[in-house]
Amino acid sequence: MLLPDRKEEATRDKRKYKTVKYNIDSKSKNKYKGKTFYLKTYGCQMNERDSETLVAMLKQLGFKEEKDYRKADFLLLNTCSIRENAHNKAFGMLGRFKHLKQTRPEIVIGLCGCMAQETSVCEELLKNYKFVNLVFGTHNLDKLPILVDKAFSSDERQIEVYSREQDLVEDLPVIRSNKYKAYVNIIYGCDKFCTYCIVPYTRGRERSRKKEDILKEVDTLVKDGYKEITVLGQNVNAYGKDLYDDYFMGELLEDIAKTGIPRIRFMTSHPWDFTDKMIEVIGKYPNIMPSVHLPVQSGSSRILKLMGRRYTRESYLELFHKMKNKIPGVSTSTDIIVGFPGEEEADFLETMSLVKECQFDNAFTFIFSKREGTPACRLEDFVPLEEKEERLQRLNEVVNYYFLENHKRLIGKTLKVLVEGISSKKNQYYGYSENNQLLNFTSQKKLKAGEIVDVMIEEAKTWSLDGRS
Ligand code: 5AD
Ligand code: SF4
Repeated sequence: MLLPDRKEEATRDKRKYKTVKYNIDSKSKNKYKGKTFYLKTYGCQMNERDSETLVAMLKQLGFKEEKDYRKADFLLLNTCSIRENAHNKAFGMLGRFKHLKQTRPEIVIGLCGCMAQETSVCEELLKNYKFVNLVFGTHNLDKLPILVDKAFSSDERQIEVYSREQDLVEDLPVIRSNKYKAYVNIIYGCDKFCTYCIVPYTRGRERSRKKEDILKEVDTLVKDGYKEITVLGQNVNAYGKDLYDDYFMGELLEDIAKTGIPRIRFMTSHPWDFTDKMIEVIGKYPNIMPSVHLPVQSGSSRILKLMGRRYTRESYLELFHKMKNKIPGVSTSTDIIVGFPGEEEADFLETMSLVKECQFDNAFTFIFSKREGTPACRLEDFVPLEEKEERLQRLNEVVNYYFLENHKRLIGKTLKVLVEGISSKKNQYYGYSENNQLLNFTSQKKLKAGEIVDVMIEEAKTWSLDGRS
């Protein structure tokens, strides 16, 4: 048994990591033919991408996917730690699995992902969730075949969570959930240590993939007919800093653009690392989508300092306006936390005024959630929850107002849309524009998923646009 240790997780050494190749013991291949698995994923795109690898590894072992958890032989939760409600959802699901285990004791129940990296979660699983057979973390996801084998062949519980990141593994198998849109990891982990955030502890230090490995993956996606990639990292802008002296996110984006993939998106960007080179490259290449997610978290410099965000309200706005001026037609989205410990009404009003100035096209808004072991967890929090909820509501009213206003400006315009699918209604399709707006539209022609078509906008809603192709 190996449990995570928070102190060790927080210690960053400059130890060089190696890049190693994934391989699976040939004896394990198809060993579990006839068995089925159920996998549920919580959280961000990083977890979704990890799950595509988990699925591929399980299929190598011979498992078949089962969508009804009550019928599966192996039940696995890929979990998220970012806020308390993600925790609660996963524990709620474990409660259902417990009932199932009473009638089908032979099933194997596993938990992996960010929650597994938390000492307190592992302790809770050890004490009160004895029916969970297998726990592994984000740093040894590639060991799934060995761990599953152990869990199926032994009565002992398998708990193997590393506190520190291991070598970077390439050539992991993947079964992508979409035929036209793909996620491409470029950097793992985060070194920013924003005071509210648990990610640097659950995902380890920043480790960039080698540029050759990334470009090879993109080339394969182009050959396979993919139309869009989303370049992923907790903070993609830190790309290359741990590997190269003169090759960073701007250079990588440019090389990815040159592969000819029709659409490139990237997320998430920390304002601290957003360079002029990146702005130049995004503006220059038509296949880099003019849509930037730039989390601000708060409009108050005082709160930003407490959050450890490394920028002020003024420097964020400077970057924001520079981007707006230099990238033609760019749309912007953001993340905002309300009710950070010590946030006064005056701080909140600064967030409201920043939102009015930036008029974001999309925003994800959250109430601060205490994460055990993070510095913000120890700050005195005197704002009652009702007040935080009221602030969130006021904020949502303003952000929603701008979503609709920005959408209304598009009525009568023609946007390029990547067709994703067919709605239940006749001749109805949906897809996303270059600026990442969701479009529901009709077409008299028979369209196929993966096509990029022109759509004329006829109606604006808060969350989507209606149109005709
Ligand atoms: N409480 C509330 N929101 C959080 N986020 C990260 N940590 C917390 C927390 N402890 C939000 C941030 C981040 C997004 C992914 O989740 O806004 O950008
Ligand atoms: Fe968390 Fe900050 Fe890193 Fe984003 S940049 S993952 S908010 S620590």
